[in-house]
Amino acid sequence: MSSIPADLAAWCTANEARALDELCAWLRIPSVSARSEHAADCADAAQFLATELTRIGFTTSIEPTPGHPIVVGEWRAAGPNAPTLLIYGHYDVQPAEPLELWTTPAFEPTIRDGRLYARGSVDDKGQLHLHIKALEAHMATRGALPCNVIVLAEGEEEVGSVNLEAFLERERDRLACDAVVISDSTMFAPGIPSILSSLRGMAYLQIDVRGANGDLHSGMYGGAVVNPAMALARILATMHDETGRIAIPGFYDEVRPFPDHVRAQMRELPFSDDALMHEVGVSALGGEPGYTTLERLWTRPTCEVNGLLSGYTGEGAKTVLPAVSMAKVSFRLVPDQHPERIADLVRAHVERVAPAGVTVTVTHLHGGRPWRAELKGPIIDAGKAALEAAFGREPVITGEGGSIPVVGDFERILGAPVLLMGFGLPGENAHAPDEWISVENYTLGIRAGAVLYDEFARRAARS
Ligand code: BES
Ligand code: ZN
Repeated sequence: MSSIPADLAAWCTANEARALDELCAWLRIPSVSARSEHAADCADAAQFLATELTRIGFTTSIEPTPGHPIVVGEWRAAGPNAPTLLIYGHYDVQPAEPLELWTTPAFEPTIRDGRLYARGSVDDKGQLHLHIKALEAHMATRGALPCNVIVLAEGEEEVGSVNLEAFLERERDRLACDAVVISDSTMFAPGIPSILSSLRGMAYLQIDVRGANGDLHSGMYGGAVVNPAMALARILATMHDETGRIAIPGFYDEVRPFPDHVRAQMRELPFSDDALMHEVGVSALGGEPGYTTLERLWTRPTCEVNGLLSGYTGEGAKTVLPAVSMAKVSFRLVPDQHPERIADLVRAHVERVAPAGVTVTVTHLHGGRPWRAELKGPIIDAGKAALEAAFGREPVITGEGGSIPVVGDFERILGAPVLLMGFGLPGENAHAPDEWISVENYTLGIRAGAVLYDEFARRAARS
């Protein structure tokens, strides 16, 4: 079994407390990408990262985009013949609301019971920061990295990475690399390190329904004028059939089934529906018939309402026939579904089922392609060795229901294979109140990163 070199291990132990302090300072910056009032905080979080990278010896630039800036750090002293590793992460975070449900404030990082609580602790500042510390471990102990390294951090992952693809296209020469590593996902269970073999893609739509030219008295007009809230409810109800399958014509046409051996691998993982029900506090699970829960989460596409708005929602009763209604609806996609084509199918379906008397608009807000890994080559072998060295056991191969839109772009535009090696845990409350990262996973993640660079450099060396 591979183990952690003594010099790196000693540095990690000696610097653990300082690393956590620095992470907490970064977490105090509320870099919420979805909210324009936080644009300056996003810029501050980018600057914080750039300063750290510069301090440990990287050449750093902050690249403006039409949205939030992209941070690029480069260390190329290993020379043109050495392999290059690109580390990708995001410094933006989801909105922290509802604030009242946090045990301690979202942007005041707090450690309780071995967990560091804060918005962005696990998604993704903590998981990006552990790489910065792993790089620092090499620089501080050996004065160099074993391979060339590019750190690429964006501030718009949580809003669909809308400006990153163009940046990759434009900077493809500068960003050329032999592999990409991303730590922005979860481990299967505590103590079980994991490598991801797939991510779902995404088509995110907004449906707006408009009826009368203003709100109406529901007694004077109700029964004769079509109600946009009811119309929207009807439209949404047509998205699934009664069994739980998606009923939009053509929706499954491009789904390529997962290979039998991948499904077999998933069935071997120790997973319990009861434990999931207990974790999220429900008494039954639901979904597409004919698939296990893990298959539903990792290998099948979905349609979910993310938000609904219409009419009077304040205290007490108000008799009103609302003029408008709105829903945010996202579709998780699997290979080979395509976000634009799915958006077109949904639009056509909604237009077909919308009742007369209202106008319906479907807007595609953002999309991302699904991804499935080859799981071969130096970066995957290096990842396995690094996780084994840090956690003392071989990683399992898992799938994932979430999306990281840019993963497919790295492969397509940079031609580089991607290793997804995450350190979050089930129940981590990503995107929810009381988000946390396990302090132990954070520190083991630093060690895994440090070993990864060594292992990758050795395995990818050009002969
Ligand atoms: N880190 C997540 C993606 C993720 C979640 C990977 C869980 C593995 C396990 C990422 O920050 C995220 O939330 N992505 C968004 C992307 C969307 C806005 C296109 C998602 O999945 O909702
Ligand atoms: Zn996220």
